[in-house]
Amino acid sequence: MKLRGVSAKEVLREIEERLISDMSYHSGRILGSMCTIPHPLARKIFSKYLEKNLGDPGLFPATLQLEKEVISMMGELLGSPNASGIITSGGTEANISAMRIARNISRKKGKKSKTIIVPESAHASFDKAADLLDVKLVKARLDEEYRVDVDDVQEKVTDDTFALVGIAGTTALGTVDPIDALSDIAEDKGIYLHVDAAFGGFVLPFLDKAGFKVPSFDFRNEGVCSITVDPHKMGMAPIPAGGLLLRDEKLFIDNSFEIPYLAGGKNSHPIILGTRSGAAVIATWALLNHLGIEGYIRIVKRCMKNTEILEKGIQRVDGLGLPVKPTMNIIGISSNAVDICKLDLELRRRGWALGKFPEFLRIVVMPHVKRRHIMEFLSELEDAVQTLLAKRTVTSAF
Ligand SMILES: Cc1ncc(COP(=O)(O)O)c(C=O)c1O
Repeated sequence: MKLRGVSAKEVLREIEERLISDMSYHSGRILGSMCTIPHPLARKIFSKYLEKNLGDPGLFPATLQLEKEVISMMGELLGSPNASGIITSGGTEANISAMRIARNISRKKGKKSKTIIVPESAHASFDKAADLLDVKLVKARLDEEYRVDVDDVQEKVTDDTFALVGIAGTTALGTVDPIDALSDIAEDKGIYLHVDAAFGGFVLPFLDKAGFKVPSFDFRNEGVCSITVDPHKMGMAPIPAGGLLLRDEKLFIDNSFEIPYLAGGKNSHPIILGTRSGAAVIATWALLNHLGIEGYIRIVKRCMKNTEILEKGIQRVDGLGLPVKPTMNIIGISSNAVDICKLDLELRRRGWALGKFPEFLRIVVMPHVKRRHIMEFLSELEDAVQTLLAKRTVTSAF
């Protein structure tokens, strides 16, 4: 660290220079991220209220009220306007917090259960949760549509199971697990069911309203105890804005930590963070009110249209295919002709950043991905496959 600071102008100049090698969403080349450019209104609001700290809500009761309204609007979208909830730092914190609550409920009943059953497609946050909570994660098989195999879940449930997890919008392919069937199992066995709709929570309700076929995944399934839903993904809100909704407010009250010393007066925290961003909450409130249901439907429909163009384009490239038809604006690329790892590297070499999974590449068609980017990508994709095939031919000729 410097003894004597440099001028703000100099710092700004250096930052601009140093950050030049970061990728930008505006380039349209970030194709494998669930984050995007926050909505301009959200950016403006976020920077205006940076100092608001909801870790000490007694100081910011008006911001807290906006958070309650955000939760109520998200609850309404997810089938329970009376749901209780909190804005978290992201889906990871929401999932870990939900698993902690589930474990505590089971402990309170005097049980020593230590197992969570998740689909094989579950996000890494559940591995983190299991590690932090010192519990076991059992992974249930997927069916050919990349949704959890309910029979396998049923078989894996034992007396040691305290939570089931279903996913509404998997990280890899955006598929939606059969939440209704998981809900039946959870109710039948008296087990906590959490739905990870970190991504899908801001897509599925709007697709449904736009007339797409959407499986039932939310609180309308009686066994669902909690849902993760992240405004900082398809909600267009600035990072950090994840969300955890609970059907029953008492679960929050019973599982909070009292913080007695706060300047705003004694309060309690039901999640991991202490100090947390009020600005993200205010920005989310602003977006929900500004865009409204119609605004989000427009955004989601545009992303779906672009997904469709991409789907057709990928299918036109010889040697490429789709692991599964997209349910939402996430699409996989598989191949029987080229090595998927090599294809990923070739595309990276050309400046495209996709997600890589063992059997396929993944594109998340976020709002920053425009039609012109897709057309450019498809042409390079075809070329990249040709390059790899040509290299293979040359190698085998020697
Ligand atoms: C389904 C799902 N859940 C949870 C998360 C974690 O969200 P975050 O990165 O906001 O912690 C992700 C992130 O990609 C996700 O895809």
